[in-house]
Amino acid sequence: MSLFTPPGAAPATAPRPAPPATRKRARFHTLTVEEVRPLTDDSVEVTFTVPAPLADDYDHLPGQYVALRTTLDGVEVRRSYSLCRTPEHRSAEQIAAGIPTRLSVAVKRDEGGLFSTWAQTGLHPGFEIDVMSPQGTFTSGLDDLDGRHVVGIAAGSGITPLMALAHTVLTRSESARFTLLYTNRSTLDVMFLEDLADLKDRHPARLTLHHVLSREQRTAPVLSGRIDEEKLRTILGMLIDPAGVDEWFLCGPLSLVELCREVLADVGVPRERIRFELFTTGDEPRREGRQVEVRAGQRTTRIEVTLDGVSSTVESPVDAHESVLNAALRVRPDAPFACAGGVCGTCRARVIEGSVTMSENYALEPDELERGYVLTCQSHATSDRIVVDYDV
Ligand SMILES: Cc1cc2nc3c(=O)[nH]c(=O)nc-3n(C[C@H](O)[C@H](O)[C@H](O)COP(=O)(O)OP(=O)(O)OC[C@H]3O[C@@H](n4cnc5c(N)ncnc54)[C@H](O)[C@@H]3O)c2cc1C
Ligand code: FES
Repeated sequence: MSLFTPPGAAPATAPRPAPPATRKRARFHTLTVEEVRPLTDDSVEVTFTVPAPLADDYDHLPGQYVALRTTLDGVEVRRSYSLCRTPEHRSAEQIAAGIPTRLSVAVKRDEGGLFSTWAQTGLHPGFEIDVMSPQGTFTSGLDDLDGRHVVGIAAGSGITPLMALAHTVLTRSESARFTLLYTNRSTLDVMFLEDLADLKDRHPARLTLHHVLSREQRTAPVLSGRIDEEKLRTILGMLIDPAGVDEWFLCGPLSLVELCREVLADVGVPRERIRFELFTTGDEPRREGRQVEVRAGQRTTRIEVTLDGVSSTVESPVDAHESVLNAALRVRPDAPFACAGGVCGTCRARVIEGSVTMSENYALEPDELERGYVLTCQSHATSDRIVVDYDV
């Protein structure tokens, strides 16, 4: 059984609490790559310089992500990458002196993947690329961390937002604890291996690390092999007592996130204590920007879009079966989107009039659906006219 909200479904359980105010208008600026650091044979950490006048645009919370945009073989490509460093604190003097800040992501090569393969060598110091302002709700209230125990469960590149979260939790409170359960194939695949060891050296009593390796034998059998239901239940029985955990952060492939959510719910963890981020659903990637022409006499749906206070209207041929986002991009090329797969939530807008049906939704919470929010990359109009607002 899937615990994800079926498209358009009413909430079956209490929604997660609203995360801290995180939503800001998604805007691209061109940033320069400052440094590239190899993490493993197939992953790199990429750091961008953020000029002082743009520092506020890139101010973010740990756990948020940015979208990178470039053109490869003549085609525009956008992909999302989580920010892997704790947000930099800027002093008043630094702001006044116009000192730039930095922003880091980590890109792991996806076998056969277009952008992540190119990024291993294409992103080099001095290279300029469009970077969207940070987005995302995979974050935590950070004001009251004292005495709290936060657990992160990650697989592969899913470690990136958890690096920022772990670091922030441990440095912002003297009494907060972080436990990381991190699964990879082998030691050679572990991203941030040394950084995690350093963090452990700095916070030996408050950071607990459990590396689970699926293709390498570890001394403890529970830390060897794939994490399936039996192994997860054993880990929860032996290594992490769910009763002593305040907040859970899950980041990895759909199958692992679903498994963790189901098992945690079964052992009594309230849904509102579990946050998750998906990088991919495993489906064939879909892309926006499909060319659609409106021919004379064709039956169309009228789509009205409000973005940055300006309303625009576009006709969408009914038999083109295009998404609301695809149609919107014809009149508003700045309409926000990143994954185009129903995962990241960047394309969220509210339906003010008319109705739509959504094909996938891995990003919106039941309470957002109830309030009329949709993922425009997954929405298809079911009425002759719809009005959507990206600003609310
Ligand atoms: C919020 C968010 C945060 C993310 N953070 C990170 C991060 O921190 N680090 C990270 O490494 N990734 C992250 N990702 C994933 C990242 O955005 C990309 O999806 C990933 O890098 C793959 O992009 P790509 O262009 O290389 O692969 P794509 O070209 O998009 O292909 C993806 C996969 O589909 C397969 N494929 C491609 N075309 C086809 C086809 N026609 N038929 C069947 N299969 C096909 C490819 O072989 C590949 O395995 C994040 C994603 C999201 C949504
Ligand atoms: S663009 Fe990512 S959910 Fe629509």
